[in-house]
Amino acid sequence: MATCGMVVLLLGLLASGLSAQSLANKLADPQDPFFPSRLSASENKALKASDFEDPGDCGECHEQIYMQWQGGMHANAWKDPTYTALHHIASKETKGLTDRYCIACHTPIAVLAGEIKPGEDSKVSEISKKGVQCDFCHYRLRKQGDRKHGRHLLSRAYQKGPFKDSESPAHQTAFSELHTRAEFCGMCHDVYHPVNGLPLEKTYSEWLEGPYPSRGVKCQDCHMTPGITHFQQNPGKAAIDAPQREHIWSHNIVGVNAAMANYLASSSTAKRPSSGSGRQPPWRS
Ligand code: HEC
Ligand code: HEC
Ligand code: HEC
Ligand code: HEC
Ligand code: HEC
Repeated sequence: MATCGMVVLLLGLLASGLSAQSLANKLADPQDPFFPSRLSASENKALKASDFEDPGDCGECHEQIYMQWQGGMHANAWKDPTYTALHHIASKETKGLTDRYCIACHTPIAVLAGEIKPGEDSKVSEISKKGVQCDFCHYRLRKQGDRKHGRHLLSRAYQKGPFKDSESPAHQTAFSELHTRAEFCGMCHDVYHPVNGLPLEKTYSEWLEGPYPSRGVKCQDCHMTPGITHFQQNPGKAAIDAPQREHIWSHNIVGVNAAMANYLASSSTAKRPSSGSGRQPPWRS
């Protein structure tokens, strides 16, 4: 993301957009606990951090996927020092307006669990700090309405994924077409201004306008397979005791920030699955 430009634009536009009083009222409105993010939940009520499961628990069975995820920027989206620094500046300058807006994409469970009190030093639970994580992407996630500003609706559901026939001893499973499409990534990888809807960063829109959709090449084909520039088959098992499959999507979803991910992973003390000998992300070997 062209971060500096984005924040400058954001601050300038916010200053002209809303009066301080109407803003304070909106931020304190109990009927809209997620404002100004586009996250939502049943009855528009905040969930609890305990509604979500720690990625380490998933890692007990999805060992390899867990190790891959842990080494990528999604797992580190809360800790990323570049993000943290800009987020603090934006929060201060906008009296907290940007708090839930930024955090909804970088650490969505914190917003869903009602932990973010705009303009205050919010207490964020340990599970929320784990960034963009398994239980956010796979549980309860359903798209709602337009895809601007990371709009999601969370409703009680199953662990959703690409398989039509999967069975798990730990959770119910369900096929989700959305997960197999670029639009899934586009929910966050298309950043719009929260007030006036101007595009700030449009990875998804750029993909949509480029040559790849007509060739049937989606984000996952490049970013969730061993070949970063094209689809590459990756046969294997999605979990311990799971059937052999023709293709498993990998979760070390990398881009230009592999060096940052590597640094954060090596300084991390996060829990690893007890039996883990999962494959290392390629840039760590
Ligand atoms: C709609 C979702 C969304 C919102 C809202 C959002 N971001 Fe991001 N942000 C992303 C995505 C996706 C990336 C990574 C994409 C990329 O690098 O192109 C990112 C990357 C960043 C980075 C770059 C991190 C690095 O290490 O290079 C910074 C800094 C950042 N965001 C700050 C913010 C701040 C501050 C806010 C609030 C003012 C914010 N973001 C709001 C989705 C969002
Ligand atoms: C950023 C969102 C995101 C996160 C975070 C994420 N996944 Fe996934 N996962 C996906 C998508 C998307 C697919 C399917 C890709 C497709 O079909 O094109 C997938 C596929 C899967 C599958 C099916 C097997 C496979 O890999 O093909 C399993 C199991 C899975 N994920 C488990 C996990 C676990 C466990 C975690 C946490 C350690 C996790 N995921 C984190 C988005 C995510
Ligand atoms: C006790 C072992 C176990 C645990 C713990 C576990 N899973 Fe699974 N999961 C499985 C097995 C086995 C499958 C079936 C894989 C297959 O069919 O290839 C599966 C399938 C999945 C799928 C694919 C669903 C589909 O229909 O495409 C997803 C997504 C998933 N798990 C996510 C998670 C997440 C997220 C967690 C943690 C909150 C988790 N799992 C915890 C064993 C487990
Ligand atoms: C044809 C393969 C391909 C497709 C399709 C693709 N990407 Fe990428 N993407 C790449 C490569 C290669 C890089 C590294 C580019 C570089 O190093 O400059 C990258 C970089 C990125 C980055 C980090 C750089 C940045 O812009 O900040 C993000 C985020 C990203 N892609 C997200 C996505 C999303 C979301 C989609 C789908 C809407 C997508 N990509 C579709 C291959 C692809
Ligand atoms: C819940 C929001 C969310 C979803 C859904 C999501 N991402 Fe991200 N993604 C982020 C954020 C936030 C970051 C930036 C973390 C940071 O750098 O601080 C990021 C980082 C990345 C990066 C690394 C960029 C870099 O500079 O190295 C890539 C690549 C990427 N995402 C691809 C994907 C793909 C592909 C999908 C769909 C399978 C996806 N993302 C789904 C929020 C999301």
